[in-house]
Amino acid sequence: MAVDLLLGLQWGDEGKGKIVDVLTKNYDIIARFQGGPNAGHTLEFDGIKHVLHTIPSGIFHKNSMNIVGNGVVIDPVIFKKELEALNKYDIDIKSKLLISRKAHLILPTHRLLDAASETAKGKAKIGSTLKGIGPTYMDKTGRNGMRIGDLELSDWKEKYRALANKHEAMIGFYNVDIQYDLKELEAEFFDSINTLKVLSFIDSEEYLYQAQKEGKKILAEGAQGSLLDIDFGTYPYVTSSNTTAAGACTGLGIAPNQIGEVKGIFKAYTTRVGSGPFPTELFDKDGETMGRVGNEFGATTGRPRRCGWLDLVALKYAVQVNGVTELMMMKGDVLSGFKKLKICTAYNYKGKTISHLPYNIEAENVAPIYTEMKGWSQDLTKMTKAVELPNELNAYIDFLEKELEVPIKIVSVGPDRTQTIHR
Ligand code: GDP
Ligand code: IMO
Ligand code: MG
Repeated sequence: MAVDLLLGLQWGDEGKGKIVDVLTKNYDIIARFQGGPNAGHTLEFDGIKHVLHTIPSGIFHKNSMNIVGNGVVIDPVIFKKELEALNKYDIDIKSKLLISRKAHLILPTHRLLDAASETAKGKAKIGSTLKGIGPTYMDKTGRNGMRIGDLELSDWKEKYRALANKHEAMIGFYNVDIQYDLKELEAEFFDSINTLKVLSFIDSEEYLYQAQKEGKKILAEGAQGSLLDIDFGTYPYVTSSNTTAAGACTGLGIAPNQIGEVKGIFKAYTTRVGSGPFPTELFDKDGETMGRVGNEFGATTGRPRRCGWLDLVALKYAVQVNGVTELMMMKGDVLSGFKKLKICTAYNYKGKTISHLPYNIEAENVAPIYTEMKGWSQDLTKMTKAVELPNELNAYIDFLEKELEVPIKIVSVGPDRTQTIHR
């Protein structure tokens, strides 16, 4: 039985949480494969908004099993808060949420190192979420990290101490003014590890292998987006994991020939939070309208998201790198009322017209070339069927499907679970 993937195709915050929640009824298992609490996945139903950071977005469904895979980095402090936020709902967390022994731990000093590194970079900072993601993945690939499975060993506190001491020396090396009380941070960390230990730690690759043999349906949930991928994103303004399809293989132990559908999700426009190039970014009233109507504030940090027109050059690249088989277009409702819509179909790159994503997309090298389309004025948020969608929106969708050569199967018209149109 194949494993399906759900991935963000832009700079994150495409609406992955919402769509995983919508699709969970078709799956037995939802498994997160990379990233950590830098992610903020929003779900809305029954008038309540939930934001998940590490816990897979299938957690609210009675019959789904949720797995935090080996490719994920876990901050026990944030994880504990996420669990507490779920306390008031009738969820049997212990039997519905399993954690890979091979997932890495974010230490308090990883967060401090993230802050020190960003401060030292000054204007060139990545605009990281300051959740310790970069330093934790650096320790993973540097072969120094601590894993969830270590917590089952008697000497884990000594291992912790040695690593934290090394980190403290490294923080000193940055020579920046970072205020912290490690004793306090550690008290919180050790306390939350006790909470984490209540859950089952598993060999998730073996679990998923057996589940596949039993014919269970598995959906792998991505975090961030393709343009934040450590290899294929807008480096160095990226996150520290592979957010693209290959990341699901390494982040869960799924063999490439077991991948089924690759569901790619994108906003009808573009947003980005944090630093880095963004060719179609708007600094005018249109961008301001997208941000206001779309309520574009980061689900993890609350920072305003930068907004701009849809970048088809970047989207094509993401479709290609991931092998997307089905598309989902989010937030079409936010574009209602725009008289004209622009889609970037090519770049002017150092004086030449190109239609692929070049090595460097900084503003001094790249200027977007736009196609204009007619907008629509209807409110989409109450629509439930594809036949209700305005002609201009259908033309927008048809144009994208033709360019991307992949069908758009879902059109999302609002944040709620029910505001989802299947085509
Ligand atoms: P994720 O990180 O990909 O899960 O996305 P986020 O949750 O960070 O950001 C998406 C935001 O858009 C959330 O606030 C969602 O509630 C909201 N959202 C999702 N789909 C739609 C939609 O179709 N229309 C509108 N207006 N909001 C949406
Ligand atoms: P979800 O899963 C949007 C961005 C940060 C920063 C860069 C590196 O909710 O889509 P990091 O903390 O990973 O070192 O930050 O990546 N970033 C995200 N932007 N959505 C996310 O996750 C993000 N996770 C990280 O803003 O620019
Ligand atoms: Mg998000």
